[in-house]
Amino acid sequence: MKFFVDSADVEAIAELNALGMVDGVTTNPSLIMKSGRDIIEVTKEICDLVDGPVSAEVVATEAEQMITEGRKLAEIAENITVKVPLTWDGLQACKTLSSEGHMVNVTLCFSVNQAILAAKAGATFISPFIGRLDDINIDGMELIADIRTVYDNYAFETEILAASIRTANHIAESARIGADVITAPPAVIKSMVSHPLTDKGLAAFLADWAKTGQKIL
Ligand code: E4P
Repeated sequence: MKFFVDSADVEAIAELNALGMVDGVTTNPSLIMKSGRDIIEVTKEICDLVDGPVSAEVVATEAEQMITEGRKLAEIAENITVKVPLTWDGLQACKTLSSEGHMVNVTLCFSVNQAILAAKAGATFISPFIGRLDDINIDGMELIADIRTVYDNYAFETEILAASIRTANHIAESARIGADVITAPPAVIKSMVSHPLTDKGLAAFLADWAKTGQKIL
């Protein structure tokens, strides 16, 4: 399973990258806004830091303009993945950009039918949003499982990039189902390490060690 970081925070990405935990990055207009940085500048910095695909999202809503924006974003670096929304225009842009050899991430996917269309349009990645479905009381994990089944039925090559991940459980479940990639905020990735029995066990070991009066260094 590949790990993408869902962030435009260069420092946070660098921290995880130093541990070899970053296979790629996803950004979106909200994350760029949060970073307070210029999109081209911050995206270039991320692309220089990370070897894998870095998603940068178009903001046009009409296909021709999306294609023009996508081509401009793709000029930032070789590892840019152009992110387009799952609309009819987005699918048209996906088809053109992927035919030109660009990686394309089709985002804001909330149904199996949308995922099928994205695969047919040549998407490199499909981004089903788990958390936003959970927010409206629809099981986001079920969507990941359904897309996995359908893509496997027809050997679609588009990679399932589980997105809108809010908890470490979303990551474990995505792995169990067989999502190709997860993208999650740095804090959620770091929260995967936590287990109360690890903390309890470590505290007990350290307390017993103190009783020995010994030192290793
Ligand atoms: C994915 O590419 C999106 O940037 C992201 O996962 C959206 O997550 P959110 O629903 O927590 O904003």
